[in-house]
Amino acid sequence: MKVLVDKLIKNRTLKFDEFKELLATTDPYLHQKANEVRMQVFGNKIFARGLIEFTNYCKNDCFYCGLRTSNGGAARYRLTKEQILESYEAGYELGYRTFVLQGGEDPFFTDDVLVDLVRAIKGGHTDCAVTLSIGERSRESFQRLYDAGVDRYLLRQETTNPKHYASMHPLDMRLQSRLDCLWTLKEIGYQVGCGFMVGSPSQTLDDIVGDLMFIKELDPQMVGVGPFLPHDATPFGGEAAGCVQTTLNIIAILRLMKPNLLLPATTALGTIKDNGRELGIMAGANVVMPNISPTSERKKYLLYNNKIGTTSSAMDSGGDMARRMSAIGCELAIDRGDYNES
Ligand code: 5AD
Repeated sequence: MKVLVDKLIKNRTLKFDEFKELLATTDPYLHQKANEVRMQVFGNKIFARGLIEFTNYCKNDCFYCGLRTSNGGAARYRLTKEQILESYEAGYELGYRTFVLQGGEDPFFTDDVLVDLVRAIKGGHTDCAVTLSIGERSRESFQRLYDAGVDRYLLRQETTNPKHYASMHPLDMRLQSRLDCLWTLKEIGYQVGCGFMVGSPSQTLDDIVGDLMFIKELDPQMVGVGPFLPHDATPFGGEAAGCVQTTLNIIAILRLMKPNLLLPATTALGTIKDNGRELGIMAGANVVMPNISPTSERKKYLLYNNKIGTTSSAMDSGGDMARRMSAIGCELAIDRGDYNES
């Protein structure tokens, strides 16, 4: 396995079957090397992004997600502009300089509403980066939001295999439109994040290699990967969760493919295993996203069963994360943590 890892470090890519072999490895050398590369590029600094989950309304009906529109059991909420700004101010006081506004595809948030919100956020403090993660929108919409000051956009492709995509989404959702969105976001000038769930129902190793090759081509600044976790009130409620080892291997492979990539140790990884995020960091991840949403609404943003952090405050989540990072010799960085080309 050492040969393949060293080849990946040297060439920053591998052949299809070589990727497959590496994805299945249990050799600790892969994670060790990825951790070394992370240290070379970023030192012991882990970037912290304050996550604000601002609406759990969603018009989509993805088979895996607890926020899907046909989940009548979900208690819906939508933060007001004032609540979002309060979370942002509280986060700013705690030291965050990057904010991720994440939500379902909620038609309430028209371009006008979002532009007003983004202007208020960016106008409040000029030293902050704003990331949006609110699904597919038109080119015009992406452009307006960019012009209003949004710096980054996260949109996971979930898979690059059209058949696999169709098995996880209703007919009105198309893989091609999602991929088009990612290319559009890049063209406009956003720092872009894509990604996928690991171990989603019927996903194969070939599918994962397809995702890696797509990532090579898109060349995003960020990639989010986390294990699939079932949610009871979805069609996939009885499916098995994704594999931790495979998730960590993917993180490590991505770090070696792109040493300067912004790569989060995700909440899903921390949910499937108590020290999952720490293992993610030690396999090459360099970003964490502590939740700074109002505690009162947190348990309603339930993408999957047993999601962690649903009863904590912003201060608890950040403190817990800082302790976890220092226990593995890392330090939370509170600057914007922009992607660096070099
Ligand atoms: N398990 C793990 N991740 C999920 N997501 C949605 N539902 C689940 C689930 N059941 C992820 C998707 C989505 C992101 C916001 O959360 O990848 O893009």
